[in-house]
Amino acid sequence: MSKSYPRISNIFLALPCIVLEAMGSSSTGLSHNVPNVISLDGSVHEGGGQLLRVALVLSSILHKPVHITNIRLHRKSPGLQAEHIAAVELARNMCKADVRHMVKDSHELYFAPRTNLTHNEYDADTKGHGSVTLLMQVGLPLAMFSSGITQFSLKGSTNTFNAPSLDFYTNAWDPLTFKFFGTNMEIRDIRRGFFPKGRGHVYLEVYPVQYLRSIDLTEFEEIVTTWGRAVCTPDIKIDTVDIMGDIAEEYLLTHHPEAYEKIDILRDQLRPFEAHGNGSAIYLFAETTSRAILSAGLTVQKYRGFNETAVQVAKEFSNLLKTKVCVDDYMQDQLIVLMALAKGKSRIKTGNITLHTKTAIHVAETMSHAKFNIVDNKDGTHIIECDGIGLENKLIDRPYV
Ligand SMILES: *[C@@H]1O[C@H](CO)[C@@H](O)[C@H](O)[C@H]1NC(C)=O
Ligand SMILES: *[C@@H]1O[C@H](CO)[C@@H](O)[C@H](O)[C@H]1NC(C)=O
Ligand SMILES: *[C@@H]1O[C@H](CO)[C@@H](O)[C@H](O)[C@H]1NC(C)=O
Ligand SMILES: *[C@@H]1O[C@H](CO)[C@@H](O)[C@H](O)[C@H]1NC(C)=O
Repeated sequence: MSKSYPRISNIFLALPCIVLEAMGSSSTGLSHNVPNVISLDGSVHEGGGQLLRVALVLSSILHKPVHITNIRLHRKSPGLQAEHIAAVELARNMCKADVRHMVKDSHELYFAPRTNLTHNEYDADTKGHGSVTLLMQVGLPLAMFSSGITQFSLKGSTNTFNAPSLDFYTNAWDPLTFKFFGTNMEIRDIRRGFFPKGRGHVYLEVYPVQYLRSIDLTEFEEIVTTWGRAVCTPDIKIDTVDIMGDIAEEYLLTHHPEAYEKIDILRDQLRPFEAHGNGSAIYLFAETTSRAILSAGLTVQKYRGFNETAVQVAKEFSNLLKTKVCVDDYMQDQLIVLMALAKGKSRIKTGNITLHTKTAIHVAETMSHAKFNIVDNKDGTHIIECDGIGLENKLIDRPYV
């Protein structure tokens, strides 16, 4: 699967823009005309925004130009939408990339980094209900391999559908990647933005790494603690978060007494300056002695209602604890790119392999020398293994801790 792609050559960098324009406008696409451009078909596996995000990350970090076609082919509104354009712009600003076809609804994108990743303060705005966490998926790995401490000011939804919540990042992703990969960042939640209005605001400060350590997380061991949060905006009745919390606790008491004994679900109504839009959500987390952090959570959608949402989240959470996986479905695909870049062999124990994960692995293997392998366990769980490329950040002259 993995191929060898030489770095973008200086000759290519030096080509006058006008020549590149001419190449870009040919109907056969750039990848057929310019050497060293990696071509990706955006419709494989999940066929959504994931492929674009992973490609932007690896292109920017590894200095490999990429040409993506069939972007988000399997979505109701295919092609680049405002939130994807915001992600492309963020990556472009960090490595001064040459970008083509970046217009709304475009089914293709050409992206070629022109400089090393530079630390700075970067703003990005999805300009709608697009999630800030999708911008984080692009910005965070780039910041890790940049020349210093990077600040981000990101605007969009913090709690929405089809994207992990900000709560997932602060409670699970951040501590887990800190512990295992050696990442270091501060995530400040300035204002929550609930679907469909968005307009949340998150501020991040990200330290660069010298390299990422590999992760070995295949033993569940025992639950140390569980916690949760049922939260709503000021316009929603506080009773709803109480009911959601009670329902989730009741479900755990009946189905997973061990988790129930340890759980503490915070019930919380945001104040007007802390939130925008009307919405509510419930999130549950568990940490094990092996330092796995598992989570389940949902933003309440009208058709589902509060009670049903709480039951669904508790059920999903309880299933994670029963199957004794170390990485949940939200975390699974979010670790792939880090495993690909890390030094050494990574191994994580997961449930079923999601389409998002398959997509991320496909891009990582196409764009880097990382090699993935999936082991099927008899109990239905899986081990995702990866030989990472051990990328060193040559842009920093001292460790940041
Ligand atoms: C990127 O940084 C490396 C290491 O400091 C340096 O050798 C290289 O010239 C830089 N490349 C660009 C395009 O600035
Ligand atoms: C929240 O819902 C209420 C009642 O439907 C409405 O009056 C209010 O404008 C909404 N607030 C926002 C920020 O959307
Ligand atoms: C939700 O659960 C609460 C408490 O169990 C109950 O009082 C309420 O009627 C339920 N609401 C719906 C819509 O089922
Ligand atoms: C994997 O998916 C199957 C079919 O949907 C399901 O029955 C099973 O419980 C899942 N396995 C795990 C470990 O979640």
